[in-house]
Amino acid sequence: MAEDLNIIKGTKEEQYRMLIPQIKALLDGEPDLVANLANTVAALKEQFGWFWVGFYLVKNDELVLGPFQGPVACTRIRKGRGVCGSSWEQAKTLIVPEVEKFPGHIACSSLSRSEIVVPVIRNNEVIAVLDVDSSSLNEFDETDQKFLEEIVAVINFN
Ligand code: SME
Repeated sequence: MAEDLNIIKGTKEEQYRMLIPQIKALLDGEPDLVANLANTVAALKEQFGWFWVGFYLVKNDELVLGPFQGPVACTRIRKGRGVCGSSWEQAKTLIVPEVEKFPGHIACSSLSRSEIVVPVIRNNEVIAVLDVDSSSLNEFDETDQKFLEEIVAVINFN
């Protein structure tokens, strides 16, 4: 596929519906995990313009920063810490409309106002999380949850 994204305007749902086949095409036939995670976060950042989009990977019982787009971020997060560590511990997507109200939120940047974290689950274990931060309050909802969960489901982590 050409390495150019077709970026569209429209509802959030229309944007995801246009973007997801393009992400699948970018991943298709490429076995390298770092390359695939890097292109996935770049595609999301390019379409939606969010403040920060990135993966943390479970390594030796910690989340370690993986491919991301946005400002530099904290490199290691323990289980149960912050939104990412809580999503890992609970093995479920967490939508945080206002990060300042989330107990234990880890503020990598004071510009981040709302957040969604989607766990990547394989064989009943969380092996990574996708973290998305917005500089607007209340940015994420069930539509984001549905489509971001669909996106992490198509990535081959083997
Ligand atoms: N805010 C996250 C930490 C990661 S950064 O936002 C990139 C958290 O509370 O887990």
